[in-house]
Amino acid sequence: MKIGIDKIGFYAPHLYVDMNKLAVARNVEPEKFTIGIGQEKMAVPPITQDAVTLAANAALEIIDEDDKEKIDFVIFGTESGIDHSKSSAVYVHQLLGLKPNARAVEVKQACYGATAGLQMAKGHIALNPDSKVLVLGADIARYGLNTSGEATQGAGAVAMVISADPKIMALEENNVYYTNDIMDFWRPIYSDQAFVDGKFSNEQYIAFFNKVWGQYKEMTGHALEDFEAICYHLPYTKMGLKALRTVLEEAPENVQDRLKENYQISTMYNRNVGNIYTGSLYLSLLSLLERKEDLASGSRIGMFSYGSGAVGEFFTGVLQPNYREHLHLASHESLFASRKEVSVEEYEEIFENTLPKDGANIELDIEQDPAPICLAGVNDHMRQYVNKNN
Ligand code: HMG
Repeated sequence: MKIGIDKIGFYAPHLYVDMNKLAVARNVEPEKFTIGIGQEKMAVPPITQDAVTLAANAALEIIDEDDKEKIDFVIFGTESGIDHSKSSAVYVHQLLGLKPNARAVEVKQACYGATAGLQMAKGHIALNPDSKVLVLGADIARYGLNTSGEATQGAGAVAMVISADPKIMALEENNVYYTNDIMDFWRPIYSDQAFVDGKFSNEQYIAFFNKVWGQYKEMTGHALEDFEAICYHLPYTKMGLKALRTVLEEAPENVQDRLKENYQISTMYNRNVGNIYTGSLYLSLLSLLERKEDLASGSRIGMFSYGSGAVGEFFTGVLQPNYREHLHLASHESLFASRKEVSVEEYEEIFENTLPKDGANIELDIEQDPAPICLAGVNDHMRQYVNKNN
């Protein structure tokens, strides 16, 4: 039985800051951000968007009545959770009107959470082939103003329906995963901003990739030639390229060219959104699928997932016949086209405008936010979500 991605949706907040302008404001050459880091625009989440609303908005565009009937498991990968006890998945379950006979849990392991969710979903479908699983990956990447991580922030979500006989990508066997306890990036529970050892995190990302790729080759006998493209977790778009370059020489020149070209296509969305942590790998996959028009069905795509702390995984999928008919290209084009630029000063103001930390009530103006699902405030320590479509 084939199991894999049946549908894939995406959402990013409607505001962004231009990286050239951020560079000027930070006294940095713009090319450092646009070439050295590889980012053009960075999504800026208004106070009315959090991990729950981002994920719910991403799911809203793909879920239909049949999905609502069949989804019996919601797995929410995030490191921007809003509660230490109640999972974000329960809120999304309610906001989407899914059936009550369902499981709903949150999964955390930095940027690896959604991959854990995807693989758990695969196991669930193997045991329950008639059901579907909703896998969500949503995050707000915050390092702080004027920090070296600032240029690698972002916000957004990816939602995937996982099922038997998937319409987009069938997941293959032979995953290789690897865990090692390291401190490259972490966020203690008292902090709303990440701590990071930037250079070390880059090194570890590459070391994890080399380890799982090496083991994958040994296990399967596959080589780079067997891949049409490899998608990477993209904290910033230069990062995956650094990892890809460490193995490119294993392949003949024509394969190197193909992988490099497809890598660039797989970074197009991420370059304009920034790091969305656990959804980033899947945003890269979406970018490849939607922006490379002649990507043939039957192509094998490699996927490298990395979540600091750290867990890495290499796995693969095969594109299904007519997969392009099941993408939401037009709606993503309009999402990007309708975004509004904010100045660096406005971005800083939005960044500092956080929910009260003392548990005070707050009412938020959701009319300024075009998203269908918004955070309308906090009342008695309970976040108040609104689906404007209801
Ligand atoms: P930095 O110190 O500001 O930058 O930190 P740099 O000095 O290393 O420069 C960056 C690149 O720009 C370099 O290229 C420079 O040469 C180049 P490289 O040598 O690396 O190829 N550069 C220029 N290029 C063109 N024209 C110029 C110019 N000037 C310089 N004029 C760093 C960069 C990424 C470390 C920082 O932003 C950071 O700490 N970010 C957060 C951590 C991160 O993203 N780590 C990635 C791996 S870990 C991961 O992926 C997990 C994560 O997503 C979290 C999770 O799992 O939850 C982060």
